[in-house]
Amino acid sequence: MNTTKNFVIDFDSTFTQVEALEVLAEISLRNHPQKEEILLKIKQITDQGMEGDISFRDSLIHRLELLEASRSHLNQLIEELRNKVSRSFVRNKQFFDEFSDSIYIVSNGFKEFICPIVKEYGIKEENVYANTFIFDSMDNITGFDQDNVLSSDNGKVALLNSLNLSGDIYVIGDGYTDYEVKKAGLANKFYAFTENVERSKVRDVADHVAPSLDEFLYHNKLPASISYPKNRINVLLLENVHPMAEKLLREEGYNVEVYPAGLDEDELCEKIKNVSILGIRSKTQVTQKVIDHANRLMAIGAFCIGTNQIDLQACLKKGIVVFNAPFSNTRSVVELAIGEIILLMRNLPDKIAGMHLGKWDKSAKNSHEVRGKKLGIIGYGNIGAQLSILAEAMGMEVYYYDITEKLALGNARKTDSLDELLQISDIISLHVDGRPDNKNMIGDREFHLMKDGVIFVNLSRGHVVDIDSMRVHIQSGKIRGAAIDVFPYEPKSNNEPFESPLVGMPNTILTPHVGGSTSEAQENIARFVPARIMEYINTGSTTNSVNFPEIQLPPMKNAHRMMHIHHNVPGVLAAINQVIAKHNLNIIGQYLKTNESIGYMILAVDKEYDNEVINELKNVEHTIRFRVLY
Ligand code: NAI
Repeated sequence: MNTTKNFVIDFDSTFTQVEALEVLAEISLRNHPQKEEILLKIKQITDQGMEGDISFRDSLIHRLELLEASRSHLNQLIEELRNKVSRSFVRNKQFFDEFSDSIYIVSNGFKEFICPIVKEYGIKEENVYANTFIFDSMDNITGFDQDNVLSSDNGKVALLNSLNLSGDIYVIGDGYTDYEVKKAGLANKFYAFTENVERSKVRDVADHVAPSLDEFLYHNKLPASISYPKNRINVLLLENVHPMAEKLLREEGYNVEVYPAGLDEDELCEKIKNVSILGIRSKTQVTQKVIDHANRLMAIGAFCIGTNQIDLQACLKKGIVVFNAPFSNTRSVVELAIGEIILLMRNLPDKIAGMHLGKWDKSAKNSHEVRGKKLGIIGYGNIGAQLSILAEAMGMEVYYYDITEKLALGNARKTDSLDELLQISDIISLHVDGRPDNKNMIGDREFHLMKDGVIFVNLSRGHVVDIDSMRVHIQSGKIRGAAIDVFPYEPKSNNEPFESPLVGMPNTILTPHVGGSTSEAQENIARFVPARIMEYINTGSTTNSVNFPEIQLPPMKNAHRMMHIHHNVPGVLAAINQVIAKHNLNIIGQYLKTNESIGYMILAVDKEYDNEVINELKNVEHTIRFRVLY
């Protein structure tokens, strides 16, 4: 026979995100000259009471005195509390509906504001145990019913004693008074609820810590609105990833650990065992050996552009999705290109260098506006296309050449060949990708085709330009100004000296591969990558993944999603279909994408199905990974 389960839930900072009396104080003291001081005092008294440092009754008396509140303030409070119900409570409304007979709100707060809030979750008024206010004839709050046990110390214990509930009792709360019920032997388990506040004194004595109601429900195998509590997803962020990433991932509810440095292979092998999401930059090497140790890993976020540091194939074979940030620093590169083009057109690099040597060279010779000049963009991708827009805004005439068909933005014109572009442009800016075929795509022949006195900019990849030939053409005056940010060989660290045939060339700007290096770009990356990861975890979408077949899915409605990642070998789909047919699974939507190594199948199914389906799908031969999402 099933034992009855009773759920005793606290209100302030548990059911709602806030302490209601603090919010009430904000309202009632809105125009009070000493508002800030009084609010601080109220907060301190609340905390002292919560931690068990002063008697509860004293804390209540002092706070009510300071409040100067009335019935109309209470109405405003209720309005505010409605929007402050804890997020995991809001999403698990179904739990409250289903278990309304055995859910009790036991609070040291006040029925006047608790009842209207919890009623909306199906909780019965007779199951709410809390204090009540006393009002004067003008509706001002003057005190509270001192006969109510909940206004006294150890009130929750006394109340639970008098309730004499039969069956198991689970207490969920954030305060010490909630724990006291368990301590008095009146509850089977005390769950420290830490979604809104975390008190170490309470956490330390709890049977279990519940960072959300999802965790409580999952732990007790109760119906929950999401398939897996987010706090059980461990995230490891290495290499000083921008703090925005940590913030966003924590807000999502994940358990985030941050390491400022990188980890070597052995350290990472050890650390990766419990990690579900790994965040790295360019230094951490994610090798086959690391992947072999990564049994819980679902996704890797490369908080950079390149992914050479990751064994993508090994990830793929283990069903680990890799994301990067391919265009989060686009704008930064474009701004630098524009700035450099202007400097070069004014012959400023030489003039600036001269000034530092005490040389005053005031003249308009070789100094031009960019307005009306022809800009030739080679590679009209994310960066090239954006440069096109900004350059046009400054009055430049934009031409571009790309090996794939690209939509011309604004008034930009496509040239039929690279040679044509080289011949007509006053300024040439390279924005091609780093594919091996592009090695030395600009060499002696191409420089010869350019106009005399051309301005040449390369912020793309070092190997695409023949540097020795470029030097010759700068010296000859063919190239009147150049800006180079990327080199065939770049120093591995800031301690290694930089050497290049271009050092000392006239009107030549050399920069240490910083085109995309700005704080804004770092923050953009730290927003972009977590968003992709969360989308994958929450919906299964693999948009912008570096290694996975791309599937973009709509939000889920009234369905469960079964994600099946398998080796791309014959027979797997037939086996999956057999399970579906055997269990008469009601399929609402079905998505499949494959690449040469894996298949990624998503089944959207009606919520009602036999759980055996899950086991059977997990055990289909060649399955790499299987999960159910709701
Ligand atoms: P993207 O992939 O969006 O665009 C590259 C474009 O070049 C594509 O449209 C492609 O079709 C075209 N292309 C490739 N080879 C070509 C060829 N031989 N001739 C004509 N078109 C060709 O890349 P995105 O994001 O615009 O980046 C462009 C370059 O900038 C990349 O090489 C990237 O590594 C580099 N980059 C440099 C940074 C820096 O700090 N300096 C920062 C960010 C990117």
